[in-house]
Amino acid sequence: MTSTMHIRRDGIAYFFLIILCFLVILLFQHHYASNQNVDQTPIKPIIKITDKFRTHFNTHSSVWYREKCFRNKHADHLAIENLPKYLQNARASTNEACQKFVQKFDALFRLEEIYGALEISPIYLKKINAWLHNDEQLIEQIKKQRIIKIYNRYTHEEMLYNFMRSKRPQSKSEQSAQNYTLTLLEESKKNCDFCGKNYLNSTAEDSFGRLEHRLSYTAANTFKYDRWHTLIVSRNHDTLHLTEDEISDMFELSKEWFEKVYSIESKYTCPEMIWDAMPKSGASQMHTHLQVSLGFDIYYGNIERTRQGARFYAQMNDGRNYFNDYLHIHQALELTIPIGNVHILVHLTPIKDLEVMVLGASLEKDFYKALYLIFRTFIDDLQEYSFSFGMFLPPLNETSINGHVMPVVCRLVFRNPITNLRADMNGLDLYTSSVVGKDRYVLYRQLKQGILKRSK
Ligand SMILES: *[C@@H]1O[C@H](CO)[C@@H](O)[C@H](O)[C@H]1NC(C)=O
Ligand SMILES: *[C@@H]1O[C@H](CO)[C@@H](O)[C@H](O)[C@H]1NC(C)=O
Ligand SMILES: *[C@@H]1O[C@H](CO)[C@@H](O)[C@H](O)[C@H]1NC(C)=O
Repeated sequence: MTSTMHIRRDGIAYFFLIILCFLVILLFQHHYASNQNVDQTPIKPIIKITDKFRTHFNTHSSVWYREKCFRNKHADHLAIENLPKYLQNARASTNEACQKFVQKFDALFRLEEIYGALEISPIYLKKINAWLHNDEQLIEQIKKQRIIKIYNRYTHEEMLYNFMRSKRPQSKSEQSAQNYTLTLLEESKKNCDFCGKNYLNSTAEDSFGRLEHRLSYTAANTFKYDRWHTLIVSRNHDTLHLTEDEISDMFELSKEWFEKVYSIESKYTCPEMIWDAMPKSGASQMHTHLQVSLGFDIYYGNIERTRQGARFYAQMNDGRNYFNDYLHIHQALELTIPIGNVHILVHLTPIKDLEVMVLGASLEKDFYKALYLIFRTFIDDLQEYSFSFGMFLPPLNETSINGHVMPVVCRLVFRNPITNLRADMNGLDLYTSSVVGKDRYVLYRQLKQGILKRSK
């Protein structure tokens, strides 16, 4: 009796031991297997319902805001330095629209006004006098410097604006920027891999072949940074003198390439683009070329930061669309230029002094016109010859019948001085905050003037 019970008890113990071993092996295998693969769990959206992006909304004009909320009579007198004052006036106003503006501004941005004091010895003062050409007003300003700090609470971009930074002594180079540019463009035409029919023998193709348009063609990047990554090459070598048709053709071809890839591999849904012009911006080829790529599930980090910021903004602000409010704030502050359905923004947190943004519901002819006008104004009027450009489109798998949450956004920054050895960005800009010395309103007025005279 006792011995059979022993055997039965042992049997049960063995049974459980075997089950336990089995479980351990399973767990181990699972752990090992999940370490083998890259984690592809999608990043979950924070909120499901967000307003769609709209370029048109019922609102007062910029002039109305300037006069009624900011209490400023002349557009020509608007200055970033006085932004705290405009906000203060709007806050003090009893008008509902002014109050709403302030709420939006405060929800998205944080504005600070800081003073930095300097003690200057009489000997050093002589040197400073020479730099500032004995301008008494500037010398007073340098002793008590005013810094405007604008922080985007959702994308964490920031501008530190100090007018005095633009007065720093600069070394002058002997060759003019224009001469340098024209010479480089001419020289690089001689052995260009992208000119004429050369590309047929000196560029690669995507697995599905090459797309060709009258004014541009595609070429797979030989040194890829992503699975789906190609070059959109204009048949015009000279990036600085593209016609509106040539610009339009490149972007239309980009859209075609995005659709082509999406039709082959539909999990690649996030369209992105970059463009660099001239060596100062990091371009390795002088010939006009955009780089387009498609991301899987998420965009590249810098774009994803904006996208996630926009989702978080909606979550914190009753589902309001971040991009609508962003545009509205700039419109009220008179920092936007409408071109048909799209808006050019001289935005409050640029990466560097000469950055602008173009925002629209879709990539279409008004967008190309806006880019064309920006290029002409910067290149022909402001003599800026090098730029970097980044752009994203809404995800390809979203239907567009009633619009997208994300608009098409492009940002471009002109890089200078192009003949100077010194880089245009430093540790401050790369790792802390963008430091800007040119008033956004000054750039706005230059841009507006350039666009107005070309739109007639
Ligand atoms: C650039 O300057 C050099 C002399 O410094 C001159 O020989 C040349 O013709 C100039 N090029 C252009 C395109 O103006
Ligand atoms: C490409 O290379 C082939 C073979 O060398 C040559 O016959 C052809 O002319 C080249 N085409 C172009 C456009 O350079
Ligand atoms: C679009 O595709 C992504 C994966 O790339 C997916 O996470 C998302 O849910 C899709 N959106 C729609 C509206 O189908």
